[in-house]
Amino acid sequence: MTELKLDKSKIPKHVAIIMDGNGRWAKNKGFKRVIGHEKGTTTVNKIVEACVELGVEYLTLFAFSTENWQRPKYEINSLMKLLLSSLRKELNNMHDKKIKLSAIGNTAKLPEKVKKQLEEVKDATKNYDKLKLTLALSYGSREEIINAVKKISQKVKNNLIDINTIDDSTINTHLYTHNLPDVDLLIRTSGEQRISNFMLWQIAYAELYFCKELYYDFTKEHLFEAINNFQKRERRFGKTSEQLK
Ligand code: FPP
Repeated sequence: MTELKLDKSKIPKHVAIIMDGNGRWAKNKGFKRVIGHEKGTTTVNKIVEACVELGVEYLTLFAFSTENWQRPKYEINSLMKLLLSSLRKELNNMHDKKIKLSAIGNTAKLPEKVKKQLEEVKDATKNYDKLKLTLALSYGSREEIINAVKKISQKVKNNLIDINTIDDSTINTHLYTHNLPDVDLLIRTSGEQRISNFMLWQIAYAELYFCKELYYDFTKEHLFEAINNFQKRERRFGKTSEQLK
């Protein structure tokens, strides 16, 4: 099995996934787009399970972007319903596997029922530390950065921050992701090779992995393959190979 090839000492700490291709998967099969999203939830469960098995500490999934609010009402409603039912269904599993759920994004915009369920699951799992699973919901990186700039500016104005001390950590602490480490491995399914406004600050030194599988077709083995590929790369963080030795 591919997993055996993996070096357990070099598992990426933070994996982020742009789960793309649900609409195309459904279209290829002659189904409505929302069936593709429904199928996508089964892949979410498999990938979460695989990350727990592998010892990935942080998994962040791009489930709904700020731009996705422009989709047809029917698709938005179906996605919200799916999110609600998944949160309800998966709570026991999160207890079993000690998964801590969090969310990033402008979650205030989500429907009341979803917000309430999300808060319930976040609260019920807040003390777990096996896998920190973060859902990016109504998330846009530019909006996140704009919010951070506003908060920091306000603090500078109120003399709470000295402008000369602003550094990476100042920015980090004002982002939705202030509790998360930088992304190590960013995966996008479906063959598209774009970032689409996802964690622009946090992926500064992430390894990018694009694969052709539509999200529903992305299996545990494909995840192992992505991690295997990650493990073969030299992460220099701006230094030379010699300096790393
Ligand atoms: C992108 O595919 C996918 C989404 C916008 C939604 C992702 C949602 C899920 C996988 C299911 C719900 C998630 C959770 C966490 C329960 P697309 O619709 O843009 O596909 P296309 O590019 O083929 O049209």
